[in-house]
Amino acid sequence: MSILFNEKTKTFHLYNEEISYIMTVLQNGHLGQLYFGGRIHHKEDFSYLLETSYRPMTAYVFDEDRSFSLEHVRQEYGVYGTTDFRHPAVEVLQQNGSRISDFVYQGYEITDGKPELPGLPATYTEDAKEAQTLTVSLKDPVTGIVLELFYTIFAAGGIIARSARLTNEGEESVQLTRAMSLCLDLPDSDYEWMQFSGAWARERHLKVRRLEQGIQAVDSMRGNSSHEHNPFIVLKRPAADEEQGEVMGFSLVYSGNFLAQAQVDAHDMTRVLLGIHPMGFSWKLEPGASFQTPEAVTVYSAKGLGDMSRTFHSLYRKRLARGYWRDRERPILNNNWEATYFNFTEERLVSIAGRAKECGVELFVLDDGWFGARSDDRAGLGDWEANRDRLPDGITGLAEKIEALGLKFGLWFEPEMVNRDSDLYRAHPDWILQTPDRHPSQGRSQYVLDFSRGEVVDFIYERMAKILREAKVSYIKWDMNRSITECYCAALPADRQGEVFHRYILGVYDLYERLTSEFPHVLFESCASGGGRFDPGLLYYAPQGWASDDSDAVERLKIQYGTSFCYPLCSIGSHVSVAPNHQVFRSTPLHTRANVAYFGTFGYELDLNRLTEEERETVKAQIAFMKRYRRLFQFGDFYRLSSPFEGNVTAWMVVSEDRRKAVLGWYRVLNGVNLPYGRLRLNGLDPDLAYRICMDGGQWDGVYYGDELMKAGLVTSDSASGEVPRGGTSSCDFDSRIYVLKAEE
Ligand code: DGJ
Repeated sequence: MSILFNEKTKTFHLYNEEISYIMTVLQNGHLGQLYFGGRIHHKEDFSYLLETSYRPMTAYVFDEDRSFSLEHVRQEYGVYGTTDFRHPAVEVLQQNGSRISDFVYQGYEITDGKPELPGLPATYTEDAKEAQTLTVSLKDPVTGIVLELFYTIFAAGGIIARSARLTNEGEESVQLTRAMSLCLDLPDSDYEWMQFSGAWARERHLKVRRLEQGIQAVDSMRGNSSHEHNPFIVLKRPAADEEQGEVMGFSLVYSGNFLAQAQVDAHDMTRVLLGIHPMGFSWKLEPGASFQTPEAVTVYSAKGLGDMSRTFHSLYRKRLARGYWRDRERPILNNNWEATYFNFTEERLVSIAGRAKECGVELFVLDDGWFGARSDDRAGLGDWEANRDRLPDGITGLAEKIEALGLKFGLWFEPEMVNRDSDLYRAHPDWILQTPDRHPSQGRSQYVLDFSRGEVVDFIYERMAKILREAKVSYIKWDMNRSITECYCAALPADRQGEVFHRYILGVYDLYERLTSEFPHVLFESCASGGGRFDPGLLYYAPQGWASDDSDAVERLKIQYGTSFCYPLCSIGSHVSVAPNHQVFRSTPLHTRANVAYFGTFGYELDLNRLTEEERETVKAQIAFMKRYRRLFQFGDFYRLSSPFEGNVTAWMVVSEDRRKAVLGWYRVLNGVNLPYGRLRLNGLDPDLAYRICMDGGQWDGVYYGDELMKAGLVTSDSASGEVPRGGTSSCDFDSRIYVLKAEE
């Protein structure tokens, strides 16, 4: 890895073994983009990549050079209004009403490692040799605003992490009305756009379409990154697939409002923008003040979507997630939510936990309903003290009883919220986000606390920390169950109201930082009505997140498949729940529910007392299996083999780093009869190793070379490929299988 600068041609070349990222100072002093893609040889001069020609009807910068127009030049942080008509990366509203700016190159700095982004989550290095960072400084001569563009290239993987900082070195305050984290201009538009979208209970469904002239975008204006869209998009060449071809993933390390957009212009150039959503955003920059954007991470791969995802997985697992739990296998948990909802007593909880322990569960989690006057979802949020009617010995007493069973104890919070019917709201009605003279909307009968205010965050911190100091709590599920409306902070002046959404998220990060620092051994799982805030920003604090409130195994195939494009398996909260399922009322076999949940953090979302003895024996075997292969599931290399968005069969697998072990999950939604024979081409194996295969925990059977399994494929035909012979085993709807592969010595 290296970052080179050529003084004569004013060209930067960031490269490692996989990628080259090349920029140059343009003739008007702006920073121009020349190339991003697979690694190319270094040269002093790449100016031929900057193509300019006179095009009628377009504006031009220099009278003497009619061919130079920002409209047609690829830029690193484009501005609008000075011949570029595309959506810009930055906009600065000045006191005279002008929004024009002109960021001219000043200088650069190259440092080893990667600086932190104060108050914001970001990828990091542990050793300065892991990455190098280039900072390019530009300045607008009229306002005195200095723009610093940060580029980190990691030694391994096609990764570039970017962010921008704007500092007012002028004499007048300005309003930043747009400050994106990433602007990347690509020379053509021959891409397919992939987004990961949906809604509550069907998060991160993959949607693909061709890029077209015009704008395609996904966004959130809800105050969280949202169920509807994820702050992650992919551009892939149309012929690229899981195993080959050029792809680029763009991921925003942020949990609030965002915009991810690709704009294709009249000459098929593509501008990708990613960052805080400009809608509703403005930030007052007083003289001397700075604004730091969140980080955007780009991964380029010439080896297809699978390689791109594995690069994200490894980066986010090892250099975004932090702390005690980062590299540790995650505890198998039993959460009481779908087992009891609000209807529990201490006795019932202890009995669920006791059964869980018998089956091999390691952590019991008490979900919503343990505090204040919370008998349903209309009251109590904000009153973080145990409800003594339900829990006579408080959280401390319950935690002791759970620990006495030999389990760890976990607890649910929704720190950012308050019910109208709560002591906290009665004491501080002014602590909610609400706009003067306007109706404050409620979502699930709750208001959003104004986390942009330090005193609110301090208060909640003290409440949560008190419980964590007193009781043996090993895990926290941090929920967030509504979007933000009437966003306004009573403590800020009118000209700073555009800052509230971002300040809110900074408050959330601050609370996370303080809690994870004081309680470094507590495992945090993020949640927002399921996967409404499943984003890299929160992974920095909470190494796992509840992927969706939809716990049906068939639905989860799509949700977990879509999630896996960016996020590692150890971050994907996935549990076995009861049949019929509570969201879609579907009855799937117990083995399929576990076979899906293994590819994540794993746990149970039901009362094991209510299963039959035989089912409990199955659960014991499932837990024992997960414990045996947990490191492989959570930290192995993940390969998608067959997509739930394309057919009836889904398949995926994890492979150990040394490629000697693998586990394959195969799922068929609807059964059939007389179907074609089934073959599945595996991936990630060592072609020269012979693997012994065991199906569904049966006998070790059959030995096949890696090349056979990857080229000829694994035969998956079963009774659905013909007629069930008398006495044979029949296949069923929602069927699945797990194959374990072990290399022969
Ligand atoms: C939404 C979460 O996603 C559920 O798992 C559960 O914790 C409920 N909230 C509790 O209110």
